[in-house]
Amino acid sequence: MSNRQKMADEELQEWARRLEAQAPQDVLVNAVENYAASLILAASFGAEDVVLIDMLHKLAPTIPVFYLDTNIHFAETYDTRDKLQVRYGTTFIQVQPQLSLAEQAEKHGEKLWEREPNLCCEIRKVEPLKRVLSNYQAWITGIRREQSPTRANTKKVEWDEKFNLVKFNPLADWTEAQVWEYIHAHDVPYNPLHDRNYPSIGCRVCTRAVLPGQDPRSGRWAGFEKTECGLHK
Ligand code: ADX
Repeated sequence: MSNRQKMADEELQEWARRLEAQAPQDVLVNAVENYAASLILAASFGAEDVVLIDMLHKLAPTIPVFYLDTNIHFAETYDTRDKLQVRYGTTFIQVQPQLSLAEQAEKHGEKLWEREPNLCCEIRKVEPLKRVLSNYQAWITGIRREQSPTRANTKKVEWDEKFNLVKFNPLADWTEAQVWEYIHAHDVPYNPLHDRNYPSIGCRVCTRAVLPGQDPRSGRWAGFEKTECGLHK
């Protein structure tokens, strides 16, 4: 499909200004009203994503949800996916890398993530994301400003320069406490690793628990300078 034209900067900025004071559910309604036929939610089943899955299910249950299955997620992450599927009576779209883990090992050597985590993320997350997003005009993500300096300027709606489509971040201004309040208030299934000091969860080979008070993202790619995998600028 890909009939995507960059919306004028001023138009998007104006839209973002209007959405800034709106609750996540209103941002989602706005997204659905404008892009219903070509909108998708990205979920790795972390705390923010389960909130969005619950909200979207209540507002517009036909909007598809996909997950990038790197094939090396924690067992708890796959269990959370299964629980959510049962709870919401839906099947999430599984998006896989072109190379299986065995093919990757053959081509680039064993445990690429230990040597070249950027290349590994490119193969297992970024390329598959590019592929799935090329079929849509807008996507929804769970990123929040508080998560890292690189996310501090996140708008509730913005143009995604990297993947060339509109990006909605309904939880941009939420705190971690608000996310958990929502999860408990609505009894949303969540990844049990969050209760074991894993605030941010990626692949099992590149995610560690953090100590109380440590930066929540410090358990991602611990030991490397890396802080983003390339899904978000
Ligand atoms: S990452 O870029 O460092 O991996 P993070 O784990 O903080 O991202 O998640 C931020 C948002 O990116 C999530 O709320 C979700 O929208 C999207 N995302 C991250 N990982 C995946 C994945 N494996 N599949 C689909 N979406 C993902």
